[in-house]
Amino acid sequence: TNQLTGRHFLTLKDFITEEIHYLLDLASDLKEKKKAGITHRYMEGQNIALLFEKPSTRTRCAFTVACIDLGAHPEYLGKNDIQFGKKESVRDTAIVLGRMFDGIQFRGYEQSTVNGLAEHSGVPVWNGLTNQFHPTQILADLLTIKENIGHLKGVKLVYVGDGRNNMGNSLLIGGAKVGMDVRICSPESLFPEQDVIAYAKEVSKESGGKITVTSNIDEAVSGADVIYTDVWVSMGEEDQFKERIELLSPYQVNKKMLDKTGNKQVMFLHCLPSFHDLETEVGREIYEKFGLKEMEVTDEVFQSENSFVFEEAENRLHTIKAVMAATNGSVKS
Ligand code: CP
Ligand code: NVA
Repeated sequence: TNQLTGRHFLTLKDFITEEIHYLLDLASDLKEKKKAGITHRYMEGQNIALLFEKPSTRTRCAFTVACIDLGAHPEYLGKNDIQFGKKESVRDTAIVLGRMFDGIQFRGYEQSTVNGLAEHSGVPVWNGLTNQFHPTQILADLLTIKENIGHLKGVKLVYVGDGRNNMGNSLLIGGAKVGMDVRICSPESLFPEQDVIAYAKEVSKESGGKITVTSNIDEAVSGADVIYTDVWVSMGEEDQFKERIELLSPYQVNKKMLDKTGNKQVMFLHCLPSFHDLETEVGREIYEKFGLKEMEVTDEVFQSENSFVFEEAENRLHTIKAVMAATNGSVKS
């Protein structure tokens, strides 16, 4: 056992720097085992509930495959498949699931829902994204950076775009914990909430990191090691395309922005899904309405050698596996 056994994974605020590094090292180890075909069934015989209010490709698939690799059974519970939310409360759902399952993943709207599941279920609960936080994503991002740069401390990570969403918040917190030089670059109206900035600044004092929040692109991207962006309109905000396009168009990640970093090796990251081309149903609607061909990142940057987005996506599997194995598995530290 280790000190993570039995813990929930709701936000990275709850984890100290050493625990984050432990999870990243465990993820690397599990990744090597998987590639070498070495079994790692640390959750043999467990049953895991995967509760989704919002859609997902990476998070759902990562939890599903991770469960099976760890010897556990995953059960997908879509919002419309169960009584949850319509006829049954968070509390009652949590109690029932906790009596049948050994762990619960939740993706949805409110952080208070995942916190409520954690409070009442009696089994570890993992946050697979809420409006406020996306902590498992950050572990995959940190692993991808570490694999390619070799370390995390002092790495200049610039998050460009919607600073107020789950990714802005979570990168601030996660980056601060591991001592990164985190720069949030957004229009002022999309700066992260003051309490999240204050928290990250406080954590940085101890970790040796640095936190900057600015609307000035040139200042933010200068010397960057990593440029990170996310969609301009998150799940649940679909009525805000017009206003976000107006606000965020200057913050598009394109070749010109990468050149401004002065770093030819600058890594490009994106949690995905991405509007780098609009060859999708929603994409075509946006093209018809606003005449845009690309949104938060150009196809050129997305497809370039600087882009590590698919390594990052794969790392969701290894990091989510590490989180489950450490909090609910027989893995030894
Ligand atoms: N990055 C991420 O969480 O992707 P999904 O929405 O596909 O799970
Ligand atoms: N900010 C995005 C992240 C998707 C992984 C959203 O919440 O839709």
